Amino acid sequence: MNQVVVIVGMGNMGRAMLKGLNSSEDFKGYNIFLYEARNHSLEDYLTESRISILKDPDDFSSKPFTIVLCIKPHDLIAFANSINSLIHKDSLIISILAGTSLATIAEQTKHKGAIVRAMPNIGATIGQAATVLCANKVCSAGLKDQAFNLFESVGDAFWAKEEQLDTVTGLSGSGPAYIYMVIEALTDGGVKMGLARDLARALATQTVLGAASLVKSTGLHPAILKDQVTTPAGTTISALHELEERGLRSMFVSAVEIATERSKILGSTKS
Ligand SMILES: NC(=O)c1ccc[n+]([C@@H]2O[C@H](COP(=O)([O-])OP(=O)(O)OC[C@H]3O[C@@H](n4cnc5c(N)ncnc54)[C@H](OP(=O)(O)O)[C@@H]3O)[C@@H](O)[C@H]2O)c1
Repeated sequence: MNQVVVIVGMGNMGRAMLKGLNSSEDFKGYNIFLYEARNHSLEDYLTESRISILKDPDDFSSKPFTIVLCIKPHDLIAFANSINSLIHKDSLIISILAGTSLATIAEQTKHKGAIVRAMPNIGATIGQAATVLCANKVCSAGLKDQAFNLFESVGDAFWAKEEQLDTVTGLSGSGPAYIYMVIEALTDGGVKMGLARDLARALATQTVLGAASLVKSTGLHPAILKDQVTTPAGTTISALHELEERGLRSMFVSAVEIATERSKILGSTKS
């Protein structure tokens, strides 16, 4: 098993992955390298002796690494060119590049070994990601476990088939934006009815957080939890009726559907 993890691209997601790796028991004995193409200062991230900067692109061919690609999809070709020679055949490439297939990653990097494609979301930056992974055929069970553990260090992780990743993008990838809109709208509702904006936003945010935590911690179907807080002839059932009449459920189903279709189109124009 590879005992060295290289994070390529120390932007939002690269930093989140480093934080996860640092806090994970599974990666305690591992050395971590950081790799950036341009002259970004990485000194701030060298908080432990096991973290260092990978400077020589030829090192990618010298040893088996677990390489976590956290660059933008359009930088993949430049990265592949920058490393000059091939990636070590026993390396595992983990890519979080949106809309970039396992086949494209293999083709661009010329790597014939193990590749895992992952779709995390922005929750990774606070250890609350929802990530879905898929692996190519040559990825061993041990390397799959390693990739899974990596994403468990930044939230919840799940396996799925690669063809489902567009739907994952439409649900959990884009999903945080839908919920930001819900929080914003609930806040506006509070403001409309006379609450100070700060208070309304704090209440809306905590309500979403508490409701999601209850679904997760109880494992109950959301409909059961909804029924539990819906008193006959009360306030909640009146609001639920309004939401149903205006098609809230159908709107979210359509949102996931249209984002999935968009992801498919973007993916096909890239490859
Ligand atoms: N943000 C999300 O919520 C999210 C969710 C799921 C998946 N993703 C995926 O995560 C990836 C990274 O997103 P991000 O938001 O973290 O992007 P980001 O903040 O722009 O970070 C990308 C980093 O990679 C560096 N880089 C560019 N080319 C490189 C190369 N050839 N070699 C090494 N480093 C290079 C960039 O440097 P420069 O600034 O100099 O270009 C930058 O520091 C994307 O592919 C995205 O699709 C993101």
